[in-house]
Amino acid sequence: MPLPRLIPQPSRLSPLPGRFAFGPDTAVRPVPGAEAAAALLRDLLRPATGLPLPDRPDGTVVLALDPALTGLGEEGYGLTVGAEGVLLRAARLPGLLAGVQTLRQLLPVEALSAAPVTGVAWSVPCVQITDRPRFPWRGAMLDVSRHFRPVSFLRRYVDLLALHKLNVLHLHLTDDQGWRMPVAAYPRLTETGGLPHGGAYTRGELADLVRHAAARGVTVVPEIEMPGHVRAALAAYPRLGNRPDRTLDVWDRWGVCDTVLGVHDEVLDFCRTVLDEVMDVFPSPHVHLGGEECPTAEWHASPAARRRAAEEGLTGPDALHGWFMDRIGRHLVDAGRHPVGWTETGADLPPYFTVMPWRDTAHGRTAARRGHRVVMAPHRTTYLDYPQSAGPDEPPGQPGAVVDLRAVHGTDPAPRDWSPEETGRVLGTQAQLWTEYVPTAAHAEYLTFPRLCALAETAWTGRHDWPGFRDRLHHHLTRLDTLGVPRRLSPTPTVPGKELP
Ligand code: ACM
Repeated sequence: MPLPRLIPQPSRLSPLPGRFAFGPDTAVRPVPGAEAAAALLRDLLRPATGLPLPDRPDGTVVLALDPALTGLGEEGYGLTVGAEGVLLRAARLPGLLAGVQTLRQLLPVEALSAAPVTGVAWSVPCVQITDRPRFPWRGAMLDVSRHFRPVSFLRRYVDLLALHKLNVLHLHLTDDQGWRMPVAAYPRLTETGGLPHGGAYTRGELADLVRHAAARGVTVVPEIEMPGHVRAALAAYPRLGNRPDRTLDVWDRWGVCDTVLGVHDEVLDFCRTVLDEVMDVFPSPHVHLGGEECPTAEWHASPAARRRAAEEGLTGPDALHGWFMDRIGRHLVDAGRHPVGWTETGADLPPYFTVMPWRDTAHGRTAARRGHRVVMAPHRTTYLDYPQSAGPDEPPGQPGAVVDLRAVHGTDPAPRDWSPEETGRVLGTQAQLWTEYVPTAAHAEYLTFPRLCALAETAWTGRHDWPGFRDRLHHHLTRLDTLGVPRRLSPTPTVPGKELP
């Protein structure tokens, strides 16, 4: 019996003889609490299949929530497909939502089409699956500051994450080149900071996105950069900087900008006010404060900043970085949230921060040893803004490296030689799409896929079955084709359009 080709690969999968056919009379029976999973199944399958899939007490597709299934954790599920019916079980709703995505992948690839498809038998192979993720944080960071993407793109991106059982969309909302998060108390942030390369969101759009994502088991984690990467905010409000008399433009270059926030009380109030509005829109337990690449030259040059460092008993202006992150981080903690920051060394943020080591894997271990919770984001395997091949057919990307499919697949969030305590602090991993060199929606999807499939596989399974992944990906690419996802073609095609990078 051929094995269904799923991505990510389930923990346990046994094919059984026969098929279950979905038809016009097929109904779904959600137990109380499982209705949202039934609604998702309907929403996902209806556009292509036209099947109504109503909820009915005699439905043969049973969605059951059973808190006693503790072995499945928050997102695990059991799926039994027999010729007469389907039983999807989980302890918690996110598990059912994950199982719905598996059921969708078991259907013919045409089921993923956004337009009605006729002449296809909507059946799934009989199978027994028990599945749960290795890591609870499996995500993708999207930079909407360098190049703005409308919320319609984000909704589609969320749909694509959910298809791969990824559960975090980390939105990089502010940077030197653009501020995309509306803040009622500071309207110029988006009026001025939203101008180059794009625009800005409305609160309503972001709230809708959060709901859309939640219905798919995806949490939107907002990021507001500080105290560096803030040139767009300083262009809007120069008094937040270290030289309030100076007017700045929103930055129109790439790289690390040396203008950073001042450290006076008004700046701390600004950050807290912004974050209060951010927390109103985003219920995510985690809120990202950026924190990386913060040159301290302006603080060294500023009498006010040097005075602040002395008043706070710091060793000097360089220590203002950790002090600043702590001041703002505590505000989030007081509001019941977990602050997150990029870390450059593994040892530059207060220990209660969840950190994303983005330079080297070793920094993740340093951070874990300090007691941080860690989401691994090493640039050599998770930065999708790097070209995916060195070949002449590859469009220009972030210079400096090539991150190919196999490298992403090899991402190891918790390497084997780490101690159990270190490993226990790893929440998971995520891919990053910085968009300096990504001006269009098509280019963003092109860079994302299929490399994000590899990250999803690694983060969900915790294994590195490269040959198995590659074989399943061949089939999975036809799903991406059905969804209209532009993706890299091989320079040496065997079957045009279907081969792997
Ligand atoms: C980063 O690459 N600036 C985290």
